Amino acid sequence: MAVHPLSFSPSCLRRKIPSLFYTPPPETIVEEKQESVLHIMGKAQLRGHVPISGAKNSALALMAAALLSSEGCTIDNLPCLVDVQRMEDILVSLGVKVRRCQGEIELDTSSLTNSQAPYELVSQMRASFFIIGPLLSRLGVAQIPLPGGCAIGARPVDLHVRGLQAMGAEVEINHGIVHASCSGGRLKGAKVYLDYPSVGATETIMMAATLAEGETVIQNAAQEPEVVDLANFCRALGARIYGAGSKTIVILGVPRLYGCKYTVIPDRIEAGTYMIAAAITRSEITLGPVVPEHLVALTAKLREIGVTMTMASPTIMTVQGHQGTYSGIEVETSPFPGFPTDMQAQLMALLTISAGNSVVTETVFENRLQHVAELCRMGANIRTRGNVAIITGVEKLSGAPVMATDLRASAALVLAGLAAEGETQLRGLHHLDRGYDRLEEKLRNLGALLHRD
Ligand code: EPZ
Repeated sequence: MAVHPLSFSPSCLRRKIPSLFYTPPPETIVEEKQESVLHIMGKAQLRGHVPISGAKNSALALMAAALLSSEGCTIDNLPCLVDVQRMEDILVSLGVKVRRCQGEIELDTSSLTNSQAPYELVSQMRASFFIIGPLLSRLGVAQIPLPGGCAIGARPVDLHVRGLQAMGAEVEINHGIVHASCSGGRLKGAKVYLDYPSVGATETIMMAATLAEGETVIQNAAQEPEVVDLANFCRALGARIYGAGSKTIVILGVPRLYGCKYTVIPDRIEAGTYMIAAAITRSEITLGPVVPEHLVALTAKLREIGVTMTMASPTIMTVQGHQGTYSGIEVETSPFPGFPTDMQAQLMALLTISAGNSVVTETVFENRLQHVAELCRMGANIRTRGNVAIITGVEKLSGAPVMATDLRASAALVLAGLAAEGETQLRGLHHLDRGYDRLEEKLRNLGALLHRD
């Protein structure tokens, strides 16, 4: 049998001509798992409507907050993501009974059988640390493995821990496990000032305070829409929370919480990613549902570049890419309502083909410029100095094999691939699958040519 030179590889050949190679008994053959590759054809022209799913960074917090009540709850509009499945697995490991139907999840939290989340689940997803506040409030004890760092930074949890300690929790960290307990049985309300408006720390303290004795005031709180969504979910459970979305949140503790049915807000980062997909391919699409107030900073920056956005209805946005030249801009990421760090990589992809020099400053995470090297492999002209990237616009990008390093970097590389000349092969797809609900299907429905093998 002629073996095509391109297909030559021992394992491939071994399957075709077993007699040629010693074939160990089946139980010892370890098929190396071929890493999936996403092939993206460039010069995409997009058109049509893209549905926006529920917000990942809200859904994960809401699922953790469900532990606060023993009456269970139903959460709707959950995105179909690996991280949501991981959070579900963590809840099940704690004794929660789960019923999933499409984007709706029913959580029976009446009998928690465990206060320790398994390392192998927690270590894969930082958001799993969100369960420490609810577990501590509900059971008076919680053992959670430190979430550890990830590609974009060390991701410490000192602000979470200090907030819980201010509320009377005893917290020790031994062998990578955070042991939290409150001997008095109930946390006490406290005034907590956050050195940094951390989203996660704000959410941890807010959740813990819902069942604490007395009043808790969080100063310098995060104002992200996902914090507001979490506060609204907790209020639906019966919590008394005031000021979410501002820098000061007041929580009046209650003795118990009840059940509720709640719908997750639309994902502003997913929406922003598709806005840039339209811009970078110079296409016109609609997307929704969106909450325009969640997209003010991104919309303002895209307008500065030369992208046109209008609201076709209160929740549907039309984005028109510009056939002419985009202008380079300066942008600095900062906590909401500033420009979101989760959109930094995607915007940089657009700036690589915008005229002149652009300056992108990442102030939220210490290592969130790893997509620069990969964009340069596609012909971008970017130099970095610390947390600042200087981008000089080029005529066009060219498709290339690239590697995703984190969730939003992978999205940026997909966007660059859609605009580039030729095919881009993206690896490291596990990042993408964590945070984007059916991205390939949604892009194919807009006319993009991409497939995974
Ligand atoms: C949330 O992460 C989001 N994740 C992130 O989205 C998002 O980038 C981030 O908020 C900022 O908006 C989820 O909600 C699941 P932070 P979080 O606490 O809560 C430092 C994505 O791509 N910090 O606001 O972890 C921290 O190191 C992800 O969807 C401390 O120093 O973010 C970082 O430099 C990525 N001590 C800064 O604060 C702490 O105790 C902001 O972190 C906590 C945080």
